[in-house]
Amino acid sequence: MARVTILNEDKTLTADPEIAEELAGHGIDYERWTPSHPIADNAPAEDILSAYSREIEALKTRGGYVTADVIDVSPTTPGLDAMLAKFSREHWHDEDEVRFIIAGHGLFHIHSTTGAVLAIEVEAGDLIRVPRGTLHWFNLCGDRRIRAIRLFQDTAGWTPNYTESRVDENFLPVCFSATQLSMTT
Ligand SMILES: [Fe+2]
Repeated sequence: MARVTILNEDKTLTADPEIAEELAGHGIDYERWTPSHPIADNAPAEDILSAYSREIEALKTRGGYVTADVIDVSPTTPGLDAMLAKFSREHWHDEDEVRFIIAGHGLFHIHSTTGAVLAIEVEAGDLIRVPRGTLHWFNLCGDRRIRAIRLFQDTAGWTPNYTESRVDENFLPVCFSATQLSMTT
């Protein structure tokens, strides 16, 4: 289950219906998915995609996504720090950023058009859809691990456009529910 903190209001949400309602107010979709049958989080990508095919197909229809894949990031991923540095500064994409978390943790910060900054900590079972154009940044948590299904409208569009605002520097990336209480670097 996700954890959402609205940083400028010092308000934290941990219940799914409240989270979905709050995020919807900022244009972010949040859902909980359960697989069609029990599946290990280290199962082959094809099996993962198959276990969630009903949800994936429904989302493709809704959002115009054409492909889905599974990304794996762990502390031993080559070039991990360089990869993370690309996404930990405020940016937007020309297409939606859609992630369904299979394993590990992640911390999205959303800089809403309302001016609010939201920290969304995601874990297994969480689906988040950040619409194109939304200002955001991303960090891993203390476990430095995330396995996620990604959906794409056009893979060519999924590159970061940086705002260079440095607003991200005002918010420490603190995770709560990872294997240990820690800050990402
Ligand atoms: Fe992004």
